[in-house]
Amino acid sequence: MCGIVGYCGNRKAAPVLIAGLKKLEYRGYDSAGIATLYKGGYRLVKKKGRVEGLGDGKDVKGNVGIGHTRWATHGAPSTRNAHPHVFGQVAIVHNGIIENAAELKKECLARGEKFASETDSEVIAHLINRFYRGDLAAALRACTQRLTGSYAIAVLAAGSPDTIACARQKSPLVVAKNRAGELLLASDIPAVAEEGLQVCTLQDGEIALLQNGEITVFDSTMRRINRDFFVCDAQISAPAKNGYEHFMYKEITEIPFAMRNSMPDFTQNQDFSVFYKVLCQAKYIEIVACGTAYHSGLCAAYAFEKICRIPCRVSLASEYRYRDPIVPEGALVLAISQSGETADTLAAAQLAKERGACLAALTNVGHSSITTLADFVILTGAGQEVAVAATKSFNAQLATLYAMVQALAAHQGTKVECRDLPALAALSLKASERVRSWTPYFTGAKSVFFLGRGADCFVASEGSLKLKEISYIPSEGYAAGELKHGTLALVDKETAVVAVITQQSVAQKTMNAVHEAYARGAKVFLVTAFPEYGKREEIVDHVVIPTCEEAFSPALSVIPLQVLAYSVCLACGYDPDKPRNLAKSVTVE
Ligand code: AGP
Repeated sequence: MCGIVGYCGNRKAAPVLIAGLKKLEYRGYDSAGIATLYKGGYRLVKKKGRVEGLGDGKDVKGNVGIGHTRWATHGAPSTRNAHPHVFGQVAIVHNGIIENAAELKKECLARGEKFASETDSEVIAHLINRFYRGDLAAALRACTQRLTGSYAIAVLAAGSPDTIACARQKSPLVVAKNRAGELLLASDIPAVAEEGLQVCTLQDGEIALLQNGEITVFDSTMRRINRDFFVCDAQISAPAKNGYEHFMYKEITEIPFAMRNSMPDFTQNQDFSVFYKVLCQAKYIEIVACGTAYHSGLCAAYAFEKICRIPCRVSLASEYRYRDPIVPEGALVLAISQSGETADTLAAAQLAKERGACLAALTNVGHSSITTLADFVILTGAGQEVAVAATKSFNAQLATLYAMVQALAAHQGTKVECRDLPALAALSLKASERVRSWTPYFTGAKSVFFLGRGADCFVASEGSLKLKEISYIPSEGYAAGELKHGTLALVDKETAVVAVITQQSVAQKTMNAVHEAYARGAKVFLVTAFPEYGKREEIVDHVVIPTCEEAFSPALSVIPLQVLAYSVCLACGYDPDKPRNLAKSVTVE
């Protein structure tokens, strides 16, 4: 999704901005731009396409500037729709969506103002310019009072040298000061991270002014407030491929480590003692999440219900918030989000909390927005995930959630074991190399079905999502027993099928669906913990993954599907780290 950087110091701003934008490239975007202030005017460089198209910035004068990578929501990807947008004295960059932009634009047009783009963001520049009388923070505040929707905004004004003002509402934004006294801002810490950087995560409604080496933060009534700064971890600044061709595959290989790093002992660890108490007393668990995190929620709910017999419902965060949800007394809500910034998940979590739930956030990013919302924060230890397609973060989420299941089961007097999963994941990873040989069947397929029952069904959905997002092949994850109720009509000899069978009680039932697909000419592949099924005539080839506590098997069975998606993507000639139309963190609704 869109990214923002800002710089205010003594160096040339443009190279710093461009370097920052490059660090945000992995998040997905379609155009990029920078604006610097120089002698009361602007130096503006913006282009459709990659950040590279902006050059190195060495010839762009000015020590103060803002930069942006845009992921189109309103208005097609184009140079004129790229940010920054300049109007009158003002230049702005914006992440989010201004929901009342049409109405505000009408108002500006009636004043005789002209628009240069089709974006919702440009009205922000018009409004700030209207309200600007030399006090940039005040003008920004006057503007934000007129906006509905979500925004992170950074703004420059020709009449305010050495100054950037910024504001946040439901879209992440941090302000920071480095050891050299330079001031920075960014939508994501990695854009500006360096050793010793002091960072403050702005909260909704806050405005910050970066000026003369100082950062001043105001609340929504423009009262100065003292905010805490934390020192950022320099490691997050420079994600490296370490010899791998792509981040996605590097991150798949990191799964065993990511899992091992994400399994606190909830029964013993003092940091979680209060949370563990709440978990043991919970009468009901509700999980809210999106995409891959939603799939990890489904897998966890299956294990919670099967092993701990506690009712557990999983909701797509984007649906939950509009369902007028009932939050029963004693409900524990788990919001799962790798980034901690997904707008739908944040909104669902907020609503659940407002309705009385105890809220625990499971995220991979410390200091992310969800951490400030939750009663309990549980960090997964996957390490930074750069590829848009989530892999190791999924396994890390499962590791944490299964550790929770194990702890709750222990409280109930039942013994289950998940601590062997990281080592077993390493074996699954090794076995997964075999799926690369399946690739030609998938690049040539008209459509692909992933089938499973019980916990395998959720892994099927995740395998399908991975394939879709990076290889663009139409695919569905399906409950194997449901195939015959309609979808079987789509299956023919141009269909490839991957069946996942790790649950003994429904193994033969999934094989029935496999046979139905095979009988219609589909090429069927199998990921299984039971080698005997691989030898059946319906199966072209199979991968055997290790056995484990059955309810925990998704953490192992998903790995061959992640490798398959990666391999098919490469064979199709696409870049797995930068899938079209997608962004790493989805900060708009
Ligand atoms: C996964 O491969 C996707 N990129 C996407 O579905 C992602 O899981 C979803 O947008 C949720 O993101 P989050 O975990 O950061 O909240």
